[in-house]
Amino acid sequence: MYCDKRGLAFTASSQEAVDAFDSSVDEFLASGRDAALLLKRIAEVDPEMVMGQVLRGYFYRLPALPHLAAQSGDVLAKAESLSVGASDREKKHVQALAAWCEGDIRRMNTIWESILVDHPHDILALRIAHTMHFFLGDLAQMRDSMARVMPRWDESIPGYGYVLGCRAFSLEENHDFAQAEPMGKRAVEINENDIWAGHCVAHVLEGMGRRQEGIEWVDAHEEAWKKRGTFAHHMWWHRALHYLELERFDDVLNAYDRQFWTKPSEDNTDICNASAMLMRLDMLGTDVGDRWDSIAEVSAGRIDTRLRPFNDLHYIMALTMAGRRDEASTMLDSMRAFADGHPESSVTIAATYRDAAIPVAEAILAHGAKDYARVVEIMMPTRYKMLPLGGSWAQRDVWERMLINAVLKDGQHSLARVLLAERTAMAPTSAPSWSMYAEALDDCGETAEAKAARGKAAELLAA
Ligand SMILES: [Fe+2]
Repeated sequence: MYCDKRGLAFTASSQEAVDAFDSSVDEFLASGRDAALLLKRIAEVDPEMVMGQVLRGYFYRLPALPHLAAQSGDVLAKAESLSVGASDREKKHVQALAAWCEGDIRRMNTIWESILVDHPHDILALRIAHTMHFFLGDLAQMRDSMARVMPRWDESIPGYGYVLGCRAFSLEENHDFAQAEPMGKRAVEINENDIWAGHCVAHVLEGMGRRQEGIEWVDAHEEAWKKRGTFAHHMWWHRALHYLELERFDDVLNAYDRQFWTKPSEDNTDICNASAMLMRLDMLGTDVGDRWDSIAEVSAGRIDTRLRPFNDLHYIMALTMAGRRDEASTMLDSMRAFADGHPESSVTIAATYRDAAIPVAEAILAHGAKDYARVVEIMMPTRYKMLPLGGSWAQRDVWERMLINAVLKDGQHSLARVLLAERTAMAPTSAPSWSMYAEALDDCGETAEAKAARGKAAELLAA
C-alpha cells in the first residue's frame, strides 16, 4: 500500500504511481487541460493500478460524450478484474463506476457518499459526488455532502481550497449567498487556479444581481483562468450575462464570438453556453445573424445520444432556432423512446426525461413554431419540475425566460404582469426584466406603474 498526499492508502506497485494519480486528480480539480494526459502517466507507471482504471472510467463518463462513454465499459471490466485484492474503498469506487455505466447515477452517488463516511479525505469521491449531485439537481444532497466532510478538513490538508470552493458552491446553489461568497473568495485566494471556486463567486454575484462587481470579478482573474481548460469559457459566459442584463448586447455578441464560441466545439459546456446565450439574445430582440448554424451542426451529430437531458435541451434549442425543426423533432422522438424504453427502471435520467426534459423540449419546438399559447400551457406546470435537469439556477433560467417571452407574445397580459412582478422581485437589477414588466403593466392599463417600472430600467442602465 502507498499513500496519496492526504494519507489515503492505494493499491499500487509504487509510490510513483500514486503520485501520478495525485497529479491527475489535481489537474481535474483545477479544471486543467492535462488531466487525461496525466492519466496516461499512471498507465505507464502502473497499468494494473485499479484506481488508475477507475479514474479513466470516470473521465470517460463525465463529459457526457458518446465516443468517450462508449469506452467506459471496457475500462470497467479491467477495473473489476483488478479489484480482487483492492481495499474496500477502492472496490466501492469500482462499484460506483459500474453503477454509472448502468445509468444508475443516484446509486453511484450513494456509493461515493458511503466512501466519504469513512474517508472524508477521498477528494476524488468528494469532488465527483459534488459534480454529479449538481448534474441531477440534488441540491440538498450537494449541500449536505460537503457539510458532512468539512470538520475533517483544514488549511493544513492539501486540496483544502478545492473543498472549500465546493462547499461554497453548494451553499450558493441553495441561495445561501452570505456564507458562499467569503468561502469562494478565500478558496481563490488560496489558489487562483481554483476556477470552480471562482465560478461560485460569479454565481453569487449573478444571483444577487451585482452586475459591475460580477464583470470585475471575472476581469480580475481572467489571466489565470485563461490558462485553465474549456471551463474558462463558462466564466466568460457568466461575464456576458451581466452585459446582457445591462443591455450591452454588442458586448455580449463580442464575448460570444471572441471568448466563448470562437469556433465550433464538441464540449457540452461550450454548447450550452452558446445555445443559451443566443436564445436569450433572440428573445430580447437582438439579431444573432447566422450564429445558430454552427451550434446546430454540432447538435445534429447527437440526435440519438441520450446521456444528459440538460445538454439535449440545448441541442434542441440550436436545431429549432437554426430552422432544422425536423431534426429537433427527431431528437424529441428519441428522448420519448428512451423514456419509454426504461419504464420504472433504475436509469436515473429516464424519469428526468419523462418529467422535465420532454415537456421543455416540446415547449422549445412550440417556441420555434411561434405557438406561444402552447409554450405557456407546457411551461406553467413544468417550470417547477425543472430542478432534476441539473445545471445551475442561472442556466435553467433560459426556459423561465422562454415562458415570459411566450406570455408576452401571446398577449396574456395579466399573467405577464404577475410573472414579471415575480421576476423583478427575484432579480431586481435586470433592466430587460423591468422593461418587460413595464410593457406588461401598460398592456394591463396600469400606466403609472408602467412608468415607474420603465424608470427603474432606465435607472439601472444609467448607473
Ligand atoms: Fe455557472
